[in-house]
Amino acid sequence: MIFDSHAHYDDEAFDTDREELLAQCQAQGIEYIVNVSASLASVKTTLELARKHPFIYAAVGVHPDEVGELNEENFAWLKEQCQDPKVVAVGETGLDYYWDKENHEVQKYWFRRQLELAEELELPIIVHSREACADTLEEIKRAHTERLRGVIHCFSYSPETAREYLSMGYYIGIGGVATFKNAKKLKEVVKMLPLERMLLETDCPYLAPVPYRGKRNSSLNLPYVAQAVAELKGVEAEEVIRITNENARKLYFRGRDL
Ligand code: NI
Repeated sequence: MIFDSHAHYDDEAFDTDREELLAQCQAQGIEYIVNVSASLASVKTTLELARKHPFIYAAVGVHPDEVGELNEENFAWLKEQCQDPKVVAVGETGLDYYWDKENHEVQKYWFRRQLELAEELELPIIVHSREACADTLEEIKRAHTERLRGVIHCFSYSPETAREYLSMGYYIGIGGVATFKNAKKLKEVVKMLPLERMLLETDCPYLAPVPYRGKRNSSLNLPYVAQAVAELKGVEAEEVIRITNENARKLYFRGRDL
């Protein structure tokens, strides 16, 4: 059974067939999905989705592109939402210097605040980092404590950087990019990464794997990612699916009675 550790099923790309698609996911071996919010509005839609579907859990946080909307008042509201029993993580949060929508200092400030929130509430953190390798690592090192755990989602950096995160206990999220022919660096990361530290993710509707690259993604495509990982590791896809499921449970469900 597959655990999709990072999805956005509240996205408007799913407005026409969301319920049918989620039913199909459940029928085709998707055991759990963590739906990840990226803005205050999507915190609400993510929670609605998680309350409606027993197999969907929620991450609440604000993406670096959207941190301009945050202030003390709505950040306090965000913290309250973490009390919902379906919330299993804070995120996605981090730094994005590719789209570069918000000033770097503003991005760093709200990334720190969300790291502190995760630490305080003992929730894992879901980190988004694009073209901000050094600053992200610096923030995470600064925030590091024994009980702060998390995942670097859609990992796009070098094996050396992956090692730094592994040494702090982080998981690495692997998705559709692992199937792309030109993804040489990520393939090197997958080769060095112990299966025990890897999570499967779609980031759907984005980043569909080959042979659906460029199309709308869904959890139904995760077997293609598992297969690509399996080939790089020299194991069976089934083993990749089983171990990444155990990893996601350990990260998101620790101490929960399911
Ligand atoms: Ni995402």
